[in-house]
Amino acid sequence: IIPVLTIDGPSGSGKGSISKRIAEKLGWRYLDSGALYRALGVAAIRSKVDLKNEDALADLVRDIELEFKRTELGNWSVLLNGQEVQNELQTEQVGDVASKIAVFKRVRDGLLAKQQSFLKPPGLVADGRDMGSVVFPTATHKVYLTANAAERGKRRYKQLIEKGISANLTDVIQDIERRDERDKNRRASPLVVPTDAVYIDSSLCTIEEVVQQVLNLLKN
Ligand code: CDP
Repeated sequence: IIPVLTIDGPSGSGKGSISKRIAEKLGWRYLDSGALYRALGVAAIRSKVDLKNEDALADLVRDIELEFKRTELGNWSVLLNGQEVQNELQTEQVGDVASKIAVFKRVRDGLLAKQQSFLKPPGLVADGRDMGSVVFPTATHKVYLTANAAERGKRRYKQLIEKGISANLTDVIQDIERRDERDKNRRASPLVVPTDAVYIDSSLCTIEEVVQQVLNLLKN
């Protein structure tokens, strides 16, 4: 069997940075499922589809083409219908739209096969909200990563500023809390701690410490 490490958790928990580093260290593939939801958010904004219309959103998922491309710097960038949208993905507006459309079952089902197609040897690190619970329920290793909302807000704020995106800390924390609520309370694939996941609270840890902790889990 091909090993899969799922890392689920809320916004700003450090999932992205940690998953990427672990995938690099192990030479495994990396699935950034949030980027798929965000790219779909970009497509939804562009097509001006009603964000509450599940059928229209399901049609949109069916009709668009999403691919990941490796950039010269070794990062991944997302192509929407062949066009790079990476720069738009990180804005809070796109994150908010992604979180709104991610509540729909038909939208999630539409992205399922694409996500599962990332599973190839020698292994996969899958980062998201429902990786261990829905997309890869038989994963060999499952982690649930979190941190308190204030800390997650600070991290997200720093990320945005570093990317040159203007932001306000209080708004960012509020936004994170709103999205947490939506992710946890939606009917389709809510954010849960998978029963067989290792729970890590990273509020007081550096990224390197968490990476080490997760790598240790993989040794067992
Ligand atoms: O960057 P952040 O952690 O805030 O979010 P993301 O991973 O980029 O994902 C954007 C949004 O997509 C999240 O707020 C979730 O609502 C949704 N999402 C999801 O529902 N399921 C996933 N597997 C990944 C993301």
